[in-house]
This record gives sequence, C-alpha cells and structure tokens, in this order.
Amino acid sequence: MPSSTLKKKCVVVTYPLPQKHLAALAQKCEVIVLPAGQSLQTFLPEGNSVCGILCLLTDSVDAELLSRFPSLQFVSSVSVGVDHIDVEALSAKGVAVGHTPGVLVDATAETAFALLLAAARRVPEADRFVREGRWQPENRWSPDFFLGKQVSGATLGIVGLGAIGQAVARRGQAFGMEVMGWTPSGRKVSGVESVSLDALLSCSDFLSVHVALVDETRNLIGAEKIAKMKLGAVLVNTARGGIVDERALYRALKNGDLFAAGIDVFVSEPVEPDNPLLSLENVVLTPHIGSATASTRGDMVHLALQNAIAAVEERPMPHCVNPQVYT
Ligand code: GLV
Repeated sequence: MPSSTLKKKCVVVTYPLPQKHLAALAQKCEVIVLPAGQSLQTFLPEGNSVCGILCLLTDSVDAELLSRFPSLQFVSSVSVGVDHIDVEALSAKGVAVGHTPGVLVDATAETAFALLLAAARRVPEADRFVREGRWQPENRWSPDFFLGKQVSGATLGIVGLGAIGQAVARRGQAFGMEVMGWTPSGRKVSGVESVSLDALLSCSDFLSVHVALVDETRNLIGAEKIAKMKLGAVLVNTARGGIVDERALYRALKNGDLFAAGIDVFVSEPVEPDNPLLSLENVVLTPHIGSATASTRGDMVHLALQNAIAAVEERPMPHCVNPQVYT
C-alpha cells in the first residue's frame, strides 16, 4: 500500500509508550498520544479519522465508546486479558481486537509463585514485625514462633490450565508439590492430574487462579466454592479480581477457614481504601504486577505495536482474539 494512503490513518494511543516503539507506528500513520489524565471516554475524535486504538487494560472500550469512533477498525491492547473490552460489540462491528499472549507467561507465573510463598511463609507480615521493632528478646525464635505453611509436599490446585496455569504447575512440581488442575475447557495437561472443580477445592492446600475473566468465570470462586476449600488452604489470584468473591474471601480469612491469600488483582483497581482485605494480616496484596518485569512489559508493548502496525497496513493482526472479523 502506498505510504501516502497509510499516512491519512490515525491511531489513538492512550499512554505515552516509549518513543522507540511509537516511532515504528508513526512511520505508518498519524499517532495521537493522549495527554496524561485524559481518557478515551473524554477524548473527542475529530471527524472520522481514527482507525485504531492502542490501549492498556485500564482503558475501558465499550459499545458507547465505539459509537464515538465510527471509523474504528482495530483495538490493540497491551495485555493478554481483554475483559476491559466489549469484544462482542466490537466483533459485531467488524473491529479486530489484538492482545499480547505468550510473552507474559513466565513473569505472571513467577508473581503467582511469589505470592504463594509469601502468603505461606508470612513474609510481608514477618517483614513488618522486624521493621516495627516487635522482634524483641521476649518475642523471638522458639519452636512455635512465626509458623507458616509448608509448601513442599503440599497439593497445589490450578484453576485454569492455559499457558500461565501450566507454568505455575511446573513451578509447583519443582517445589515438590503434588499438582492437580481443573480448566473450564476440560483440557488435559500431562503431569497434572485433572479433577472436577469441587474435588480441586477440597484437595488443594494451595489454590492458584488462572482463568480469563469472561461471563462464565465471573465470581467462579464465590462464597459456595470458598466454603468447599480445604480448611487452612491458601488462595492465590493473579488472574482477575472479578473471578473471586472478595467479601467471601475476607470472611473465610477472617474466621480462619483459610490460612492466607495472595492477591494481585481486585474487582476495583486501584483497590478501594475500604476494601476489607486491607485490614487482614494474613493477606499479601500487590497492585496488579503479574507481568511487571522490564523485559516482559517491553515484549508486551512490542506485540501490541506489531498488532497495531499489521492492522494499519490492513493485514490480520498476528495476535487477534476475534479473528472471525477477517472472514
Ligand atoms: C495482565 O493482567 C494482562 O492481562 O496482561
């Protein structure tokens, strides 16, 4: 396609991504980077020029937004999860949605395992204990001082055996855990015993959540499922907040049915200051940092740019969640 035609197209980028990445896109089309503090919801596209949006998982792309971008052809998100995008509404209009699978598998599995170990061995609580000067001669090493939960030899249950769930399973095996799993698709993974969700809940000493947030998985781990978890288990969630019922989790942690939890994702992000989980010692909380390593985030931005450039050049996106729009 001649570059003069491509130059007329315009892509809105919702975050000031590194120049080296944006430069490649700017060679293909006009690029508008939203100034800090401006959201897609308050951006008024001039005329019909915007063909694409390059966004983050913190940007909501819904049907209302779509109505303000009549020439939209694609949305490319710097994330693997696309629950912030109304994929159904976009697909109905033939708008392609790109994401960044694969590259964040190891980083996210590391975060899940970091939370699992930290929650099991009470690492943040112990850190607070030392810093706050509570480690005193009358309160120090003894046979029952700061006891945690042993990881090796325990059963790790994986909810969702996609690439990240499998990467967590491998880490569990390396730590001497017995690994079991359940996945909505019924997929079997070698080395991981497949069981029903209820059996997984009742057998697992540690339960790690790795399903995508879709209608079928919203509140999947609700009060009734939490009540089926093994007494004294640890729950880890690095997938999405909406999958686990935070209030039911709070109650189970507060009354000691669960030993601890490690939570990276919340129903409302940033977390609300009155979220009851914040009041508990036995929860390790992180601010949605599953994929946050420099190399992984660089790879994610790179993939999102590849998707956007392909779409601007009117080629199928290499990582598209709704490829049916191309047929
Ligand atoms: C992170 O949560 C992602 O979806 O990439």
